[in-house]
Amino acid sequence: MQKVNTIGVLTSGGDAPGMNAAIRSVVRTATYYDIKVMGIRKGYEGLLHGDIDELTARDVSDTMHRGGTILQTARSKEFREIDGVRRAVSTARYFGLEGIVVIGGDGSFRGARDLCMEGMPAVGVPGTIDNDISCTEYTIGFDTAINTAKEAVDRIRDTASSHQRCNIIKVMGRASGNIALNVGIATGAEAIVIPEKELDFEKDILYPINQGKKRNKNHFIIILAEGVPHGDDLEQRIQEAVGIETRTTTLGYLQRGGSPTVVDRVNASKMGSYAVTLLKDGIGNRIVGMKENKVYDIDIYEALEIPYKINEDLIELSKILSI
Ligand code: F6P
Repeated sequence: MQKVNTIGVLTSGGDAPGMNAAIRSVVRTATYYDIKVMGIRKGYEGLLHGDIDELTARDVSDTMHRGGTILQTARSKEFREIDGVRRAVSTARYFGLEGIVVIGGDGSFRGARDLCMEGMPAVGVPGTIDNDISCTEYTIGFDTAINTAKEAVDRIRDTASSHQRCNIIKVMGRASGNIALNVGIATGAEAIVIPEKELDFEKDILYPINQGKKRNKNHFIIILAEGVPHGDDLEQRIQEAVGIETRTTTLGYLQRGGSPTVVDRVNASKMGSYAVTLLKDGIGNRIVGMKENKVYDIDIYEALEIPYKINEDLIELSKILSI
């Protein structure tokens, strides 16, 4: 087998805490195996335009504790076209890249698959706060994001209780309710509204609030996932139906920033390193993921075909706990 001499690494799509730990792990593992790493800035945009420089083991010192991504990120329109992909592959070859580690979400993985189809081996490492990639139980950034959101909700509960209000907290997650579900369970929310389950206003919202009122509860927390259709109407509907003052807080981008948790740093380090060992052994066209708490890899084409499913057991648990 021919020795791999140079690989590239990029981050793409929405940034996520822990991406720097993954980049660091890619660079340090490659250095360990005597492979040069080129850092590609701004995702596929940087690959298209040659915004690429060598990253040494020293360059990634002091980065692990930082949120965001030192390589910056972008969502590239040009790269969605086949001409863009071909141009990116020829730039990659010009810089001597023999494989690329792509850290990002499923949109970024579709880009990685396109690189593979044009002959450039790529390995995907899941990095998104949404935890919505079907081939892996875990994505880098999810743990930090849910902990950040949990802290915000705990603070909001203090004021909800003082004012006897209902507070709706809207969390990110795109079309997935994973962040909402986990944050809702962790904060003891009265209701969790997610896009995967059609909302039954009477049963899912009014019933737990009225049950709570019977037990003299006078404040309520509702976690709303951003992907829920007409979710923004909820505030007025609750106010009208129950007569309780209701306020909405959108947590937004604060969920994407901040220093990554230990879980994110360690998992990102494991998956980044694993991705390099695949490329080192001449294996491309894979996605690295976590299954039953272990790092594994799966064919990129197969991975992108797996339908996304929310954890039904967690939904059930949330219902039992909110009585
Ligand atoms: O995928 C991560 C995410 O933060 C989603 O939760 C959210 O819907 C989206 O990115 C926001 O994207 P943008 O940064 O383009 O506004």
